[in-house]
Amino acid sequence: MKKLMAANWKMYKTWDEAQATARDLVGLAAGKLPADREVLVFPPFTALKAVSDVLDPVPGFSTGGQDYYYEKEGAFTGEISPAMLKDVGAAYGLTGHSERRHILGEGDECVGRKTAYGLSKGLKVILCIGELIEERKADRVEEVLERQLRIGLKDVSADFDPEQLSVAYEPVWAIGTGEVAGPAEIVEAHTFIRKNLISLFGEKANEMRILYGGSVKPENCGDIIALDNVDGVLVGGASLHGESFSRIVLA
Ligand code: 13P
Repeated sequence: MKKLMAANWKMYKTWDEAQATARDLVGLAAGKLPADREVLVFPPFTALKAVSDVLDPVPGFSTGGQDYYYEKEGAFTGEISPAMLKDVGAAYGLTGHSERRHILGEGDECVGRKTAYGLSKGLKVILCIGELIEERKADRVEEVLERQLRIGLKDVSADFDPEQLSVAYEPVWAIGTGEVAGPAEIVEAHTFIRKNLISLFGEKANEMRILYGGSVKPENCGDIIALDNVDGVLVGGASLHGESFSRIVLA
């Protein structure tokens, strides 16, 4: 299983800025990318084509959409479909990011519909899950992760290809705060997630990737990526510059 080194650019970068960062990244990392690593960038929708034009020709590099809707087309103002993402070069789609759950009000059911729909339309999907700090303090981490997985994956058809579906564990309290989860917390959560995936999907869940996200930096990435059941990282702030994200990718 290749490690997936993913950048989430959130609501940053115009077309030109995004393309320049993608070029910097390729210049710094493409020639040195180990065979067991993949690089993925989630630009804002408006810069997807700018970035996919740069990354798609480079082996091991791809792009994805930060969100999408669970319909082919229609009167859904502001929304975008998996087919539209693929049309501008995206191979991946993200579902259930904590900012969509907690700022934009997306619930588990909506996240579940998106996950199953994207997969059925040929996107590789990364389902994001993670607890709030109050939930951790109340000893509810496992309850929250179990629920987000069960509902987030409930409509996924049993014959899915495990390489097409990943889970990202992003504890909300570690996102954008500089407060990275400790190794024991990461291993505990990822082991719990793996167990749940196996109980939902059987042994093929061992071939699904589980990514960690939350204040990943060039300085801590090497240690995080070496932990058990950590098959990649999903990086926000430190992915915005080619120089720092290339150090993460090669860590
Ligand atoms: P930071 O790396 O800025 O903490 O963001 C993590 C994240 O939300 C990636 O999706």
